[in-house]
Amino acid sequence: MFELRKLPYDINDFGDFLSSETFNFHHGKHHQTYINNLNNLIKGTEFENRDLIHIIKNSNGGIFNNAAQVYNHDFYFDCIKPKLGCGCGGNCESLDEKLKEALEKEFDSLENFKAEFIKGATGVFGSGWFWLVYNTKNQKLEFTSTSNAATPITEDKVPLLVVDVWEHAYYIDHRNARPAYLEKFYAHINWSFVSKAYEWALKEGMNSVSFYANELHSVK
Ligand code: FE2
Repeated sequence: MFELRKLPYDINDFGDFLSSETFNFHHGKHHQTYINNLNNLIKGTEFENRDLIHIIKNSNGGIFNNAAQVYNHDFYFDCIKPKLGCGCGGNCESLDEKLKEALEKEFDSLENFKAEFIKGATGVFGSGWFWLVYNTKNQKLEFTSTSNAATPITEDKVPLLVVDVWEHAYYIDHRNARPAYLEKFYAHINWSFVSKAYEWALKEGMNSVSFYANELHSVK
């Protein structure tokens, strides 16, 4: 049985980026529903008692959709954190030098990286996700977008950063203004988490994705 992950912060600490109401719906209802659906769907199948990444990589239809949405949301909620007092969102302190260099190499500058990230996420059509990934096939950092429940881990890409652009992620606080949500998302990125994901991606490749998921969901 999978359980809903706990959030690593106080849901009242996100100012005008996300309200506690959004967290109560997004984490408490949407994320919980994916967990419940997954548990119900895998009962009595070959996927019962298998780990989350195995299920994502080997299933399709409803089982895949719900398993992938569990992972995508687990990861999204780790990619954000409350803003620090300095107002930079912690970016000045927690973006690891190695990742900073890699981003500058791939995207010319951090300013350009931010501009491309927001442009790409704004342009995702309908419900979906916009990701920074480490592509294990060419050892490069790249952007990718996925629709609905799709996730880059099925293409051997290690997620480093994701933003949820389903309307349920921002409609309560920002209505239809996705770019406003994205600007504030960027200021709340947990760069320390993203940097660690990069470090593990370099060390362990796709295994790092399983380590992450298994830490949140031990198989019971
Ligand atoms: Fe979501």
